[in-house]
Amino acid sequence: MRNYLVKKFPEYHVLSVGSGELIVLWAGRHRTLRGMTAAAGQAQIRAAEPNDLGVIAGIFAHYVTTSVATFEETPPTVSEWAKKLSGMSELGLPFLVVEAGGRDGEDSRGSRGGGGARVAGYAYAVPWRPKPAYRHTVEDSVYLAPGWTGRGLGRLLLTTLLAHCARAGAREMIAVIADSGAGASVALHRACGFTDAGRLAGVGFKHGRWIDTLLLQRGLADGAG
Ligand SMILES: CC(C)(COP(=O)(O)OP(=O)(O)OC[C@H]1O[C@@H](n2cnc3c(N)ncnc32)[C@H](O)[C@@H]1OP(=O)(O)O)[C@@H](O)C(=O)NCCC(=O)NCCS
Repeated sequence: MRNYLVKKFPEYHVLSVGSGELIVLWAGRHRTLRGMTAAAGQAQIRAAEPNDLGVIAGIFAHYVTTSVATFEETPPTVSEWAKKLSGMSELGLPFLVVEAGGRDGEDSRGSRGGGGARVAGYAYAVPWRPKPAYRHTVEDSVYLAPGWTGRGLGRLLLTTLLAHCARAGAREMIAVIADSGAGASVALHRACGFTDAGRLAGVGFKHGRWIDTLLLQRGLADGAG
């Protein structure tokens, strides 16, 4: 039995890990999170803190400069991340990090946390649009350090983010995903219950090519369980 989601989220407990599943106790109910790996079983999720922002900036900078996963072209500075963190805190929206053990993924850009764990990735939700009638709709972002992908951590982060957004009163979550040919983000969102909501053709231009974005959507009114 392993506990995760410590500190600020003590209501989450991993009851068992096995055959690609985590069975968790959340809000008094058992929930089965499928597709989990041993890495996810050993991971801990907690709220992001100012000390994490250097690592978060480094993870994101990797994807800004090497991929089209984000349409940013200049990596935000740590102080820009600090503004984002405090703005989200004011809105009551979650900004989470996942810490994973140091043995696997030593090539990752994660940095050391408590007990040898490293921040291996992060997820947060921001308002989908600034106009007030959109206030119950959020957009997610999930990024893992390169050495930590494909081990269930993205699913663990997104599942937890969904639950926290539902508790914060959000009703819909939107994912905007560059159609880069790399399927991990689309697969992650579909695995977490998102459905396809559309394609915007040729709306991005990065690294010398035009890129479509895919929109996926997930209702949260059912509690995101
Ligand atoms: C996208 C990302 C967050 C996914 O997290 P992850 O930990 O790699 O994914 P998981 O191991 O949790 O897998 C989640 C699901 O996606 C599937 N999946 C993962 N990688 C995949 C890939 N490359 N191709 C196809 N499916 C994939 C898994 O099989 C799993 O589905 P299942 O639970 O039904 O078996 C991570 O790969 C990442 O950070 N990528 C780079 C940054 C990025 O693209 N961020 C998203 C921006 S919108």
